[in-house]
Amino acid sequence: MSSQKPILRALRGETLPTPPIWMMRQAGRYLPEYRATRQKAGDFLSLCYNSELAAEVTLQPIRRYGFDAAILFADILLVPQALGADLWFVTGEGPRLSTITSQAELDKLIPADAIHDHLAPIYDTVGILAKNLPKETTLIGFAGAPWTVATYMIAGQGTPDQAPAHKLKAENRGVFDGLMERITDATIHYLSAQIEAGAEVVKLFDSWAGSLEGPDFDTYSIAPMGRITAALKERHPGVPVIAFPRGAGSRFEGAHAAIGADCIALDDGVSAEWAAAHVQKDGCVQGNLASSHMVTGGDALVSETRRIVEAFGDGPHIFNLGHGITPDADPANVQLMIDTVRG
Ligand code: CP3
Repeated sequence: MSSQKPILRALRGETLPTPPIWMMRQAGRYLPEYRATRQKAGDFLSLCYNSELAAEVTLQPIRRYGFDAAILFADILLVPQALGADLWFVTGEGPRLSTITSQAELDKLIPADAIHDHLAPIYDTVGILAKNLPKETTLIGFAGAPWTVATYMIAGQGTPDQAPAHKLKAENRGVFDGLMERITDATIHYLSAQIEAGAEVVKLFDSWAGSLEGPDFDTYSIAPMGRITAALKERHPGVPVIAFPRGAGSRFEGAHAAIGADCIALDDGVSAEWAAAHVQKDGCVQGNLASSHMVTGGDALVSETRRIVEAFGDGPHIFNLGHGITPDADPANVQLMIDTVRG
């Protein structure tokens, strides 16, 4: 018998009377209980690798709000670290990594099929969650898409325009393609292991897809996500894949088929009305309330939430934000969004 969990039903293409809901970065600094657990762990990376505490912060927003999905607490940059990059977080600034810009640095990386031991605590977190989640809650695993992960591995940090990665792509295609291939292979291993540990859905975050222009968008965002999806479907048929080519704009149209994904996650750069006509016609969509409403709240939050629910009401839809909730969000606004969707 196929599962009756609302998220899995929507991912199978069912139109539900009330869309199921979860939220990107739902476990995060806007929650006092998250901040307390992070302090107990020491720092962000220690929290990611502490399976008990990572499971605890994953469950916090489920207890508080009753979301329909829990997303594994981890980070997209754990894969570069498993491949041998140094990784640390600078408070108030963000991630820093040792960089890969030459063939010699690429050759020093750990082979993609040898990353399992480093990432074992993450699979343990998934296992704990699979045992402890409420029976109606879906467990989502995730990884960064190769282009987005490559932008961090090449620049050594977040960049506004991903210029260092574009430069390597233009000037040393061999090293760039070699890095993309390593990340793609590692991601297939990583997501397969999450599924084997109990993840019921996986999501690929291509947060910087929007900066790929012309044919590069297909070559470096769509194609690698398609390769990962195809490999996962072969090993784990029936496990849905959500793809998030953030910033794709009009190129969200056709993305279901081009990637082979069950669901396309939308940012708030496209209107729900446009996306219902051009993207949802091909399958389930997820999104796409601007995360700023979690800071500002009020009537605008309520009317925008209603508008999005209505626009996507005739097809399969998972309600979500257009990007992650920010640390300055008010937890009461999250409740208001949920009450509006479910009310
Ligand atoms: O959504 C969830 O609740 C699951 C956990 C999750 C985190 N990061 C936890 C996190 C997920 C799915 C991610 C994905 C991620 N990580 C992305 C892709 C999605 C996106 O937001 O575009 C990216 C680009 C990263 C890399 C990353 N991790 C950055 C740039 C930062 C610093 C930015 C910031 O908000 O401080 C992180 C840190 C991070 N990852 C935090 C959390 C909860 C904040 C860390 C803290 O507690 O200080």
